Amino acid sequence: MNGTPRIVVLPGDGIGPEIVAATREVLDALGEFAYDERLMGGCSIDAHGTALTDEVLDACRGADAVLLGAVGGPKWDTTDPNAPRPEQGLLGLRKGMGLYANLRPVRPSPALVGSSPLREERIAGTDLLVVRELTGGIYFGDSGRDGDVAHDTCEYSVGEIDRIARTAFDAARRRAGGSGRKPKVTSVDKANVLETSRLWREVVGRVAGDYADVELEHLLVDNAAMQLVSRPADFDVVLSENLFGDILSDEAAMLTGSLGMLPSASLGAEGAPGLFEPVHGSAPDIAGQGVANPLATFLSAAMMLRHGFGRGEDAARIETAVDAVLEQGLRTADLASGDEDQVGTAEMTAAVLAELDG
Ligand code: IPM
Ligand code: MG
Repeated sequence: MNGTPRIVVLPGDGIGPEIVAATREVLDALGEFAYDERLMGGCSIDAHGTALTDEVLDACRGADAVLLGAVGGPKWDTTDPNAPRPEQGLLGLRKGMGLYANLRPVRPSPALVGSSPLREERIAGTDLLVVRELTGGIYFGDSGRDGDVAHDTCEYSVGEIDRIARTAFDAARRRAGGSGRKPKVTSVDKANVLETSRLWREVVGRVAGDYADVELEHLLVDNAAMQLVSRPADFDVVLSENLFGDILSDEAAMLTGSLGMLPSASLGAEGAPGLFEPVHGSAPDIAGQGVANPLATFLSAAMMLRHGFGRGEDAARIETAVDAVLEQGLRTADLASGDEDQVGTAEMTAAVLAELDG
């Protein structure tokens, strides 16, 4: 990439603007970036009647990367099929930018193992990556209502499965690096019931033939949900279709003790801009109070530096700083388990900036 990286910033709704502003401070400590801040989500519905305008989609397509806070809130919750919804903005971006690969790494910070709902000996050693297909399946199939009946259709093509499977196998290889550990992909489906899942299993099996060095296991989604809590440390890369990946990634995220810690990257074709956002939502109940946990957005910015800009060293600096402030005992309200002092967004950000400075 030549010149100053151009980042379209979509703060969104709820706590989105607070955590994104904090993240810009962190990025500014690492170099020069050109920001183009735009409306997307509920705020865009209020301003323009739609969650994502064509103009904003074009700006995102033309950027080097997109950094997103969170979208949604009770103000826009509705079951009226004709009313605009904030989430449509996010889905429109994923589809419109061709972001078919969603990477959600789950690595409990050593200082937070005590916050996990699982016993420490069970969570110890957990370090997994959910690779979720993001532009297909039931999220984007034909849907509608006819009188008393509603339907959503799940469809997958060989091409869609093939490319996301390759993303997963490549990621597994990369994660193993030169460690000597055998990389593993766990492919999740519901092949005992769904035709799309049988195609999924067939295609993933075929792709595995090109990756003889990577172990492949298939799990049915209900079983996978159970195994994730009973033996989380045995997973390496978890590969799944869109809806299963949505559900399993929240479950996997909670293994770390807080959804407030998990970053994500959504990537498309080689060289195209990616979208980086925390896995958590807009937390409207605590918006505007200055207490939101900005760490997942910091870590999403780290993923942007690594995957979007090829700046792995800067990414690692953010990750190390986040680990360090947690090690110092700093906890936002969502992470605090009792007697620790709670800090707000500003103090947490200042502590990370101090680490980056030091
Ligand atoms: C996610 C979210 C979204 C999804 C919603 C907000 C549409 O839950 O990114 O996991 O279902 O994909
Ligand atoms: Mg989700």
